[in-house]
Formats: sequence, C-alpha cells, structure tokens
Amino acid sequence: MQISGYLFALLVWCGLTSSAPTGNETGSGGDKPPLLLVSFDGFRADYLKKYTLPNLEKFFSCGVLVKELTNVFITKTFPNHYSLVTGLYAESHGILASMMYDPVSNMNFSIQNSSDPFWWNKAKPIWVSVEESGYRAASAMWPGTNVKIQNHTLEYKFDYDPKVSFRERLGNLTGWITKNKSVKFASLYWEEPDRSGHQYGPEDSTEMARVLQEVDNLVGVLMDHLNETGLWGKINIIITSDHGMTQCSEDRLIKLDNCVSPDSYRVVDLTPVGAIIPLTDNLTVYKNLSSCHNHMKVYLKDDLPDRLHYKNNVRTQPIILMADEGWTIVKNGRLPRLGDHGYDNTLPSMHPFLAAQGPAFRKGYKMSSFNSVDLYPLMCHLVGVLPEPNNGSFAHVRCMLVNEQCNELALAVGAVIGVLIILTTFTCLFRLMKNRDVSSPRPFARLELEDDDDDEPLLQ
Ligand SMILES: *[C@@H]1O[C@H](CO)[C@@H](O)[C@H](O)[C@H]1NC(C)=O
Ligand SMILES: *[C@@H]1O[C@H](CO)[C@@H](O)[C@H](O)[C@H]1NC(C)=O
Ligand SMILES: *[C@@H]1O[C@H](CO)[C@@H](O)[C@H](O)[C@H]1NC(C)=O
Ligand SMILES: *[C@@H]1O[C@H](CO)[C@@H](O)[C@H](O)[C@H]1NC(C)=O
Ligand SMILES: *[C@@H]1O[C@H](CO)[C@@H](O)[C@H](O)[C@H]1NC(C)=O
Ligand SMILES: [Zn+2]
Repeated sequence: MQISGYLFALLVWCGLTSSAPTGNETGSGGDKPPLLLVSFDGFRADYLKKYTLPNLEKFFSCGVLVKELTNVFITKTFPNHYSLVTGLYAESHGILASMMYDPVSNMNFSIQNSSDPFWWNKAKPIWVSVEESGYRAASAMWPGTNVKIQNHTLEYKFDYDPKVSFRERLGNLTGWITKNKSVKFASLYWEEPDRSGHQYGPEDSTEMARVLQEVDNLVGVLMDHLNETGLWGKINIIITSDHGMTQCSEDRLIKLDNCVSPDSYRVVDLTPVGAIIPLTDNLTVYKNLSSCHNHMKVYLKDDLPDRLHYKNNVRTQPIILMADEGWTIVKNGRLPRLGDHGYDNTLPSMHPFLAAQGPAFRKGYKMSSFNSVDLYPLMCHLVGVLPEPNNGSFAHVRCMLVNEQCNELALAVGAVIGVLIILTTFTCLFRLMKNRDVSSPRPFARLELEDDDDDEPLLQ
C-alpha cells in the first residue's frame, strides 16, 4: 500500500513538473530548450548505492540515470571536464593533466596558471560552437570557461572562486537564461564531494555521508530554484561528474628517490600518474624506475597502451608512471591525501555517474553505462549545434531521449521476427500432419518441398 502510494505520488509529481517535449528534433538551436550541465566534482558512481540521496533519486526518477560512466585517462579533474565538453580523449584535446610541460614552447601549465589559450586551443568546446552558431553560453566556473579558447571569450561567466556559494552560481546562471532567450547552454562546477574525498578518504563513511548529504541538499536547492523560476520541466538538466575517488594510505607509498638519483629526473606531474623527464641517461632512469616498485607500472611514452588514448601528444612526457589503485607516488615525502583519483580509467572506483531530466529525456529510464566522451554528441544534439570531430558516439546515448525510438524499434523488430517464427512453425506442423494423413503419393509434393526450402533462410 505504502509503496503504491509512493509510486502514485511520484507519477503525479513527474506529470506535474514536466511539460510535453517541444519536439522539433530537426530544428536548429532556436527551437531547442536550454541545457544546464552540472558537475559535482569527484562523485563516485557507487556513492549512489551506498548512501541515501533522496533529492538526487527524485531528480532521476523522473528522468534518466546512467549508473556508471567510463571516463578518460588520466582520471583527473581538468582532463575529464574538458573531455565532457569536447568529446575528445586527453591526447586529442591537449589537457593531459593538472600539471603539464610543453617541450615545444617550453611552457608550464598548472591549475593555478591555466588560462593561456595555448593549452586549450586544440579542441573546440561546446560553448564555443554554441556561440559561433549565434546563441549564447553561460558558465559558473566550469574548467576552461575563463579562457579565450579559439579566440572566443564568454560574456556570461564568472571566474573560479571557491567562496561563491552554489546558490549564487546557480542563481546567476538561471538569471542569464531567463533574461536572454538565446542562452542555450549553461555549465556549473561544484567542488564537492571531491574536496572531502581527498581530505578524509572515501572509506570514511561518516564524513562522506555528511558531504554527500550536503551535495544532495544542493540538488534539492537546484530543483526548488528551477521550480520557482519556472524553468523546471522546460529546460534539460544533466547532473554528472568528472571522476571517482579511492582510498590511499601511508603504507602504500612509492618513493622515487629510493630508486633513482634525485638529480637524474624532473617531475612534471607526480601521482597517481607520474610524468617524468630523464635528465641524465634516459635508459638508466627508465631501468631504475622500472624495477622500483611492483605496484607501479613504468612506460616509455611510445609503449603506453593504446586503450589509454594518452601517448599521441607532445605534452606526454618521455616516461609515464602509473600507480596501482590506492598507491601513491612521492619523491620522498609523506602521504599527501587520504583519497585520490587519476588512476587507470578501467577501475570502477574512478567512474562517475550521470543523471538527466527535462523535456528531451525519458522518465524513469536506467542505463548501466556509456563513455563520458559520448556526452558531447548528446549535448550537441540537445542544443542543436553541429558536433566537431570527436571520440564519442550518439548511438550509445540516444536511448536516453524521449524522441528516439531505439528500444521500441528493437521490440518491434523482435515481435515481427517472433511472429514469423511462430507462423513458420505452424505451417511446418500443419504440413507434417497433412503429409501423415495422405497415404498415396501426391503430384504436388515436390512443389511443397521447394516451398519449404524457401522458408529456411527466414528461420536462421
Ligand atoms: C522545425 O525546425 C525547422 C528548422 O528551424 C523548421 O524549418 C521546421 O518548420 C520546424 N518544424 C516544426 C514542426 O515546427
Ligand atoms: C604561467 O605560465 C606561463 C607560461 O609557462 C609563464 O610564462 C608565467 O610566468 C606563469 N605565471 C605564473 C604566475 O607562474
Ligand atoms: C580574434 O578576434 C579578434 C577580435 O574579434 C580579431 O580581430 C582577430 O582577427 C581574431 N583572430 C583570429 C585568429 O581569428
Ligand atoms: C551574481 O549576480 C549578482 C547580481 O547581479 C552580482 O552582484 C554577483 O557579483 C554575481 N556573482 C558573481 C560570482 O559574479
Ligand atoms: C578522437 O577524435 C579525434 C578527432 O576526430 C581524432 O583525431 C582521433 O584520432 C580520435 N581518436 C581515436 C582513438 O579514435
Ligand atoms: Zn580531486
């Protein structure tokens, strides 16, 4: 009784709060509702299973939940946020890590010094395409939106400032959306649960429950605010993240200076993926690192596995170190963080989730997974801009959409095949029985046999 009452309430709520799809799928951006993309940094996919998050559940119960996204290597914040908005692997968009060195220009990149267009210009993020097609884009601190990429600066944006509240980020974005009808794409970045995940480690279930409760409250703030501003049910909303988090510990440290002479190498980036430039004899440095620790893989740039999509860029350093899950690489110091990410992108602990809601999306639909680069062609479709060449696939995501008949089509084809099989079976049975009844040879027996031959390919 209680369950059906809850379901009923849910259906009423879904019905009341969603308008009919606007439906012009062939139209350009002008016919499409705005899209709001929200990232809660470091939201590991399985937090959804381990913690009670009522607002998030309410959000996707009327929309779509993708339980797990396969993100890109390295599983860090900047590379993955740029992949989400470009559909490109790190080697193709050029933001390979939080710390980079470019040997051609002799320049250095860090998160604190990241606004030189040089680092970002290899890709064209969706917000630039949106503005180039005559619409506007807005952003609250999404990595890269403060940069003049492809000669394009956003007017509706604010620069990174962790002190600005979620409410202010959201309120200013929706202010722009309501004020200017040509705003088609808005992106919002929020620091949690990444910050707490690093500080306490994801296995501290008390602290993680507290911060996830806070994040869930923010989803409540988001739904209430969109209701109050009349945008709920009229715009499409995607809530996702860049990567997960795993527990680290003092007894899982790999100290490089124990293996190689400190002045024989330069560290560009350290953990859990190290980017190393040998300063003396390359081969000696490589050999010493290779035998350093059995929980650290060591690759020469050209030997990096293709599946990582990481070696085809000048910013990939000559030697790449990869710590096993939960292991931390240091030069010689202590453990920097209790939780970390950046590890191999096949590890489930590195995967984020995705939830979506709005007129374009199905209601109460669940998918197990897709690749985070597939989000880009989906978003281009939603806002009506032509996607740039990318590594994603719209075919992987179309089932999320209410106007894409992917499953129904499969069902229909299945039904037709099923009916054909039944009909053929009955025909065969019928003929078999008929053949039994008739004792004398029949002039048309051969003709019927030929008919049967024709039927066979249908059955296969
Ligand atoms: C859909 O959009 C296209 C392009 O803007 C327009 O030509 C067409 O008339 C629209 N169709 C409907 C049914 O509104
Ligand atoms: C930022 O990086 C650029 C390019 O490497 C460099 O020229 C500049 O000095 C750096 N600025 C700071 C404050 O470190
Ligand atoms: C960049 O934009 C400025 C101002 O709109 C323009 O003068 C300049 O030619 C553009 N540069 C490129 C490379 O497109
Ligand atoms: C948000 O908008 C308000 C009102 O226009 C403005 O005062 C405030 O500075 C904006 N916040 C940011 C972070 O730009
Ligand atoms: C990813 O997409 C870019 C742009 O189309 C392309 O250059 C690159 O080869 C693709 N990578 C893979 C592994 O297909
Ligand atoms: Zn982080």
